[in-house]
Amino acid sequence: MEIIIQPTPEAASQIAARIIARLLREKPNAVLGLATGSTPLLLYQELIRMKLDWSRVTTFNLDEYVGLPPDHPQSYHHFMHTHLFRHINIPPNQIHIPDGMAKDIPAFCKHYEDQIAAAGGIDLQVLGIGTDGHIGFNEPSSSLASRTRIKTLTDQTRRDNARFFRSLDEVPYHVITMGIGTIMEARQILLLAFGKHKARAIAEAVEGPITAMNPASVLQLHPVVKVCLDEAAASELKRADYYRWVYDHKPAWQRG
Ligand code: F6R
Repeated sequence: MEIIIQPTPEAASQIAARIIARLLREKPNAVLGLATGSTPLLLYQELIRMKLDWSRVTTFNLDEYVGLPPDHPQSYHHFMHTHLFRHINIPPNQIHIPDGMAKDIPAFCKHYEDQIAAAGGIDLQVLGIGTDGHIGFNEPSSSLASRTRIKTLTDQTRRDNARFFRSLDEVPYHVITMGIGTIMEARQILLLAFGKHKARAIAEAVEGPITAMNPASVLQLHPVVKVCLDEAAASELKRADYYRWVYDHKPAWQRG
């Protein structure tokens, strides 16, 4: 894992945006895995500002709430169109987001996996992290080999996400999420986390044992992971000074 600690979420998001911009320059038909929530907002703003060419890019989102139609203001369809897709030149048929209204959810999940495979797999997956260590909506105790499927949110995640809804009662209990096995097949992973409330989950994921109790810890087994943090999210890392040292002394050819 490469741990990149920056003074602010803005600085960390700019580095993440440069990594994606570089990929799109090198592979204009790249397949991106995307996340929603507060964390990637600055990243998406920066990507929009960069005016990249998205005409050949394909995207797959991590997750969607079950029961929310695409035009629901809290659906992840709505989120992605508002915060990214309507500002870039990606053709709509190259955008994939799980269908929270699917009548046959297992069949839909299988179809989503097939679509990812047919696109050639995900080149780079953007991830946030839950305060309980979830990635996608793979909550603690999720199988580390899981595929796209329905999951039940924990009480903590429903409460964390209630800020986007009018009340806690409106937060759905179920989601469709890419599995941990699905995420681990991406060729490159970019995990972002900002704020003190993410510090414990990040310390466990990066420096703790690999355990389904912190699903993000499985990323220790992935060969190409970059973790972009602000100081607050990095504040419980025991080896933070070492990660800064490594980043400051990267060989010139490895710099983005
Ligand atoms: C969202 C997702 C989740 C979020 C996580 C953090 O698509 O997959 O894992 O990344 O819940 O959410 P925020 O960024 O709102 O703190």
